[in-house]
Order: sequence, then C-alpha cells, then structure tokens
Amino acid sequence: MHSKEQISHDEYQKTADWLMSQTQHRPQVAIICGSGLGMLCDTLKCQDSFAYSDIPGFPQSTVQGHAGRLVFGELKGKTCVCMQGRFHMYEGHSLCKTTFPIRVFKMMGVDTLIVTNAAGSLADGLQPGDIMIIKDHVNFPGLVGLNPLSGPNDDKFGLRFPAMSGCYDRGLRCLAMEIAKQQGVAGLTREGVYAMVGGPNFETIAEARLLHRLGVDAVGMSTAPEVVVATHCGLRVFGLSLITNKVATSYEDGESVDHEGVLEVGRLRSLAVQQLVAELVSRLEIN
Ligand code: 6GU
Repeated sequence: MHSKEQISHDEYQKTADWLMSQTQHRPQVAIICGSGLGMLCDTLKCQDSFAYSDIPGFPQSTVQGHAGRLVFGELKGKTCVCMQGRFHMYEGHSLCKTTFPIRVFKMMGVDTLIVTNAAGSLADGLQPGDIMIIKDHVNFPGLVGLNPLSGPNDDKFGLRFPAMSGCYDRGLRCLAMEIAKQQGVAGLTREGVYAMVGGPNFETIAEARLLHRLGVDAVGMSTAPEVVVATHCGLRVFGLSLITNKVATSYEDGESVDHEGVLEVGRLRSLAVQQLVAELVSRLEIN
C-alpha cells in the first residue's frame, strides 16, 4: 500500500498554482498544528481558508480533533500558511500523500516549516502539559522502509540521499528556548528526542520500555515524514511536542492513555504553545 504510489512534480505544481490563484497570500512560513493545537490558525489576520476537500490533489483528514483546513494569513507581520489538521500514516494514506502539502508549500515559496504535535512522555523530566522542543527524531517507520522519499528521486526537490543530521534547526531551537524563558514557561520547556511509531494503537508496556531504553523522550504518530520531506527540499524546520500524557511503562500502575485525554491537555496548554509559536514566527529571519 505504501511504497508504489508516486506523485509527479506536475501534481504538486497544480495544487500550488490553484492555491496561488485563490489567495493573494504568499507564505514564508508553514505551520502544521497537531491534535488539539489548531486554535493557532484562528489567530491569523486577513484569513483565506480552504477545506482540504476543496483543494485539488489534497488528501482528506479523518481524525477527530483535526478540522481539516488550510488557513493563509498574517501572523506577527509574517505571511503564514497553517494546516489545521494533518494527515497520518495510520489513516491509510500513503506517505507521499501524508507529506503532499510540504512540497506544495515549498513551491509556493515557503522558507520555514513549524510542526507541532501531541506526544506521550517517556522521560522522567517531562510531565503532561510540558513543551518539548524537538532536538532530533527516531523515524521508526522510516527505519524499515516506510519512507515518503522511497521510490524514484525527484531531483528538482532534493538529493537521492539527503542528510538528516541537522534537520531540526539549531538556531531556531535556541531562539525558542530564549522565548520560553521570556514568556515564563522555561520551567515547562526542554529539548528532547521524538520517536514516531505507526499507530493507531498506543504502545504496549513492553514497547514503551523498549522506547525508553533507546533514549526516546516522547512518542507520537506523526511529524517525522513531514520533517524528512521538508529537509529533503531544503526547508528550515522547527518542531515541538506538547506532552499530553505519561506513557505507561509499568505493569502495576493501571493508567492508560486515551485520545480524549490527549485532546484535553492540548486545549489546556494551547495558549502557551500558541504564544511561543507566534513569538518564534515574529522573530524569524527569512532568507
Ligand atoms: Cl502515549 N503514544 C503515541 N504513540 N502517540 C501519542 C501518545 C502516546 N500520546 C499522545 N500521542
């Protein structure tokens, strides 16, 4: 299901051209809003918004808590395009569909991608409600070949064998930490390693213990494919995880995670995340 489908340069171009014919905005920054974090889109000024179902070539979002629209507008003096709802591998989308918007953004002239997600914590120092600035990721599906870059390489976008060693921009991570201090949320904010698993089920305890022993700080079901495709085509990337729950690693404590709980923490902390992202956008230097 995942490996054979290919999307041609033309198909990305058609979607980019259609969007540019429908809006005057020419975004410099793209923002993907994770579960429960979509309110950021509502703060954009002079909005033009499109339901995914109305955009030629776009996949459809099927998850509760993800609205499924693309919003263009101004945020702190920068032109942004915001995804309210993303596409996940577990919805059955091929990975090239999951990451389709990224190349469309690139073609529209976007310079920087900001990704947010909801994630479970495996680190002692990360509690529900904390913000983890993503320093690096482990792309578990990617390690076994479920990679959006599988198949013939499109040299117009990037290299056959792209480096991923610096994919979360160091300068942006430092800037975000500085902003967290200024906004009084430094105590809730730290850097860490995000692991993507395929989902849609949450981890077993044995799986959670494995991830913990591997040095993973937070786990979720998204983000890595988008970041891989963005890095491939030369976008600068910043990512953060809102920690919504502790991952159960003990057979004794009977606590288990559910999607409603994940959304609830998203709503509670969404303002802090919004303010951090907005200030980061405001202070971005665009090339
Ligand atoms: Cl505990 N696991 C995964 N895979 N994704 C999550 C999560 C946990 N909590 C939020 N998203």
